[in-house]
Amino acid sequence: MQLHISPSMRHVTVFPGKGVREFIKFKVTSRRLSYKMVIYSLLFMTFLLRFIFVLTAMDTIEGETQCSSLGCIGKRLGPRMWRRPDSASVTVPEEIYRVLEGAEPDEPTAGSDVPQTLEEFIEEMKSDRTDAKTFALRLRAMVSLLDQKTRVAKIQEYLYRHVASSSIPKPLHCLALRLAQEHSTNVGARHQLPAPERVPALVDPELYHFVLASDNVLAAAVVAASLVANALLPGSVVLHVITDRKTYAPMQAWFSLHPLAPAVVEVKALHHFDWFTRGRVPVMEAMEKDRAARSHFRGGSSAIVANVSEKPIIVAAKLQALSPKYHCVMNHIRIHLPELFPSLNKVVFLDDDVVVQADLSPLWDIDLQGKVNGAVETCRGADKFVMSKRLKHYLNFSHPLISKNFQPDECAWAYGMNVFDLEAWRKTNISVTYYHWLQKNLESDLSLWQLGTLPPGLIAFHGHVHVIDPYWHMLGLGYQENTTVEDAEKAAVIHFNGRAKPWLDIAFPEIRPLWAKYLNLSDKLIRACNIRA
Ligand SMILES: *[C@@H]1O[C@H](CO)[C@@H](O)[C@H](O)[C@H]1NC(C)=O
Ligand SMILES: *[C@@H]1O[C@H](CO)[C@@H](O)[C@H](O)[C@H]1NC(C)=O
Ligand SMILES: *[C@@H]1O[C@H](CO)[C@@H](O)[C@H](O)[C@H]1NC(C)=O
Ligand SMILES: *[C@@H]1O[C@H](CO)[C@@H](O)[C@H](O)[C@H]1NC(C)=O
Ligand SMILES: *[C@@H]1O[C@H](CO)[C@@H](O)[C@H](O)[C@H]1NC(C)=O
Repeated sequence: MQLHISPSMRHVTVFPGKGVREFIKFKVTSRRLSYKMVIYSLLFMTFLLRFIFVLTAMDTIEGETQCSSLGCIGKRLGPRMWRRPDSASVTVPEEIYRVLEGAEPDEPTAGSDVPQTLEEFIEEMKSDRTDAKTFALRLRAMVSLLDQKTRVAKIQEYLYRHVASSSIPKPLHCLALRLAQEHSTNVGARHQLPAPERVPALVDPELYHFVLASDNVLAAAVVAASLVANALLPGSVVLHVITDRKTYAPMQAWFSLHPLAPAVVEVKALHHFDWFTRGRVPVMEAMEKDRAARSHFRGGSSAIVANVSEKPIIVAAKLQALSPKYHCVMNHIRIHLPELFPSLNKVVFLDDDVVVQADLSPLWDIDLQGKVNGAVETCRGADKFVMSKRLKHYLNFSHPLISKNFQPDECAWAYGMNVFDLEAWRKTNISVTYYHWLQKNLESDLSLWQLGTLPPGLIAFHGHVHVIDPYWHMLGLGYQENTTVEDAEKAAVIHFNGRAKPWLDIAFPEIRPLWAKYLNLSDKLIRACNIRA
């Protein structure tokens, strides 16, 4: 008998003895179900109940001498354990439930005499004269051990998923390298962006200015292509691409080789901005402190893994919190929009995991009513799974600093596509508040919130958000697959927030084409890097 548990615990499969074709698939549906209960119920279903069934149903199919199957073992064990002497009926003895539901045994270790596998367990039950209590105790010990192993496997799976979603897949790496090469060898890949005659557009507040911060050329290419392709007045679109030092050459090369005229595209690295080089940037300092704090966060990674009472997904999340991804400056760049674009009044900030599917110029007609940030809410809507986020889901309301300043049930809103009124913003303390709270979180050992840039954003923009129609921004395409293509097609901007980014292998195949259709598959570079629709 083999017990196979996929690391995600979504599928538990039991293969009964050799050659037996039938197997039982056990789907774990409730998210609340602990994996220990899953294993117990599984064992009960397939093991204990099978014993009982087999016992009552068959007697003579196997010879006593070659006892190799469950049925046979059941036959040997069974009458002692499951059949009441005075009756023909068969039940699981109370004693077994009592032991299994009782207090935890001491942590079993892999080296002790605990059966390591179901096979060993069966072997033991076969050879010894076993009563119900011993049976249950040994079963419990084995399950605890399996439990431990599963836990480790689960943490690993969450981390693998994290790596899968944050490491650079080969085609993207290839694209960046090819573009860097083009940049150094091909004059055509080094055009000034934008062309000199369009430079005035960069500071013309009458045009539609979009800001895209990304270190992923392919993602940025799709956002830009989709934005311009759907604009009614592409000549009025100005796209400001902000990237980091290492991605600057490839990014510049891409947009140089793929101009989106008549739209205006500017590519700048962070270090090209005046305010950044002038040195009075709290962001660098804050990020450095944040990095240091996180690396010691609750004893570092080994302490996090060692805490067995913590759920695997939390362990994985804490380990992720140590990842460099969460304290890079690019992540926090949007909090500096007023300084980055001193001559503009209004911009739309796009994340690089979105696809634009409609003309976005009407966003400039929305009256933000004096508010700074036009965003979609994330607590109302037909999709209950995606639209269930309130402040309490991001902030720790057990902390007095949070509970005395905010309401747990207040609706949250989303980053991804936001209209920012920079003029209104400059009259507020939003950026200062942002850093103030980053600092507070560091001082309280990251207990106000643990991950991400949205929580401090929710705090800093508190009272400065104007809710816009959900049509403008549809969320969730990167973490759940039951958005229908028809629904997604109706949204102005779709957002692949979550792990399943459309440029990764783990993307959801049904909705990926909505992204891939903005790739030109006959393009030389796209083909050379094996990027497929
Ligand atoms: C282990 O995790 C539990 C559950 O979240 C938590 O209450 C406890 O403080 C943690 N222990 C350590 C040493 O971090
Ligand atoms: C900005 O912060 C300062 C000091 O905290 C405060 O005095 C001032 O009123 C704030 N300004 C606005 C517009 O909130
Ligand atoms: C939330 O805040 C409380 C009170 O400071 C703290 O004890 C707890 O550890 C925090 N929770 C998390 C998950 O950090
Ligand atoms: C969508 O899928 C998730 C799991 O991916 C599920 O929990 C949720 O109930 C589904 N929502 C709808 C509306 O079917
Ligand atoms: C796609 O790329 C090919 C080859 O570079 C080019 O000739 C063609 O015009 C491009 N198509 C679009 C729609 O940009």
